[in-house]
Amino acid sequence: MQSGEKSVLLLVSGSIAAYKAADIASKLVQSGVKVYTALTDSAAQFIGAATFTGITGLPTLTSVFDEPFEGKMSHIHLPQNVDLVLAAPATANLIARFTQGIADDVVSTMLLAATSPVLIAPAMNSAMWDQEATQESVRTLKQRGVHFVEPAPGHLACGTEGQGRLATTDDIMEAVNRLLYPRLDLAGVPILISVGATREPIDPVRFISNRSSGKMGFALAEAARDRGAIVTLVKGHTEVDPPTGIEIIPVETIAEMLKAVEQAIGPAQVFISAAAPADFEPIPAEQKIKKSGTDGVTLQLNPAPDILKSIAPLAEGKVIIGFAAETENLEEYALQKLKAKNLNFIVLNDVTAPGSGFGTDTNAVTLLFPDGEKRVYPTQSKRKVAEIILDEVVGLVG
Ligand code: PMT
Repeated sequence: MQSGEKSVLLLVSGSIAAYKAADIASKLVQSGVKVYTALTDSAAQFIGAATFTGITGLPTLTSVFDEPFEGKMSHIHLPQNVDLVLAAPATANLIARFTQGIADDVVSTMLLAATSPVLIAPAMNSAMWDQEATQESVRTLKQRGVHFVEPAPGHLACGTEGQGRLATTDDIMEAVNRLLYPRLDLAGVPILISVGATREPIDPVRFISNRSSGKMGFALAEAARDRGAIVTLVKGHTEVDPPTGIEIIPVETIAEMLKAVEQAIGPAQVFISAAAPADFEPIPAEQKIKKSGTDGVTLQLNPAPDILKSIAPLAEGKVIIGFAAETENLEEYALQKLKAKNLNFIVLNDVTAPGSGFGTDTNAVTLLFPDGEKRVYPTQSKRKVAEIILDEVVGLVG
């Protein structure tokens, strides 16, 4: 904990993925970080303290009564003086105990005592991850400012498939580095982002919508927030929780989304239109349409206002970025939108490709620029795609 040298307290709990914590410790040490480690009793069943001591060159704590650093009460001093507390893997049990403020071993005590930023990398059976109890804890901890690296989907040690695998060491290292070395290249820049789907009522009980989950827009909002931007979200219907620390203007219909963007764009230096607003809207019936006595129903869909085109007069001097969600003639259609909507650039995603577009945690995008420049990126997490988009924004806001 000398000035200039970064330090991480690695807390390991009892998951089969505990062996991966050794790799994380090793990568941290190789990147010049000083690593302190503590194990729960269950973690110690999976991997020995000697492994971490060997990798980090520092004593590994397994009890609150371990006092390997002279004159320091380690279970309090370490979580309050390192640059980051990393719980990886964190079991459902550890997450629940941390949420409830239970400190009954060295790891949970250190989490409760932590005043340094905390990053949690969960690992567990997918049913345990999906449990409302766990999700509620994760939501609560996020609201309290705790950071998470979401578990990945895939094969689990218990033989099932689902979300619950410890995130990859690369993804954990990326999240650690974001927190250890924050990039504040958008500090103070006001950014407006639209996210999610609009819902256009057919009658008082039915609506037309689309498959946008909000993941892409939220990834952008979170990444912009972490880079110091002042983020405002105009949020349609979404399937996942929004990031914390961001002003949110909730809307339902395209008309509401247009009005909200018109009202919020004034102070914004950048507008990123990641939402999937309706292109067509029905004229809603006043009462529920009855099925009895009808052979079927014909809906008339009228063109909906185009938000990006409508706000053009308010967008003078601002950086405006659109997305193109295409299923065919990808580049041709995206280039038409880039021009018609007068954008600084457009993010084309093939919404039929596996792992890309609606609802997925990953996206495969191509950035198209007005001067004909084209940049193609492989499928990667929406967070990484968001960072790529924001790298371009940094260049445009000067
Ligand atoms: O939310 P996720 O599940 O993570 O999915 C992400 C996404 C696929 C929704 C996102 O990556 C995306 O592509 N968003 C744009 C969806 C869309 O409406 O695409 P479009 O090609 O129909 O529209 C082109 C651009 O015009 C978009 O920036 C859109 O926000 C905007 N638009 C569209 C309709 C409309 N009435 N007004 C608009 O301004």
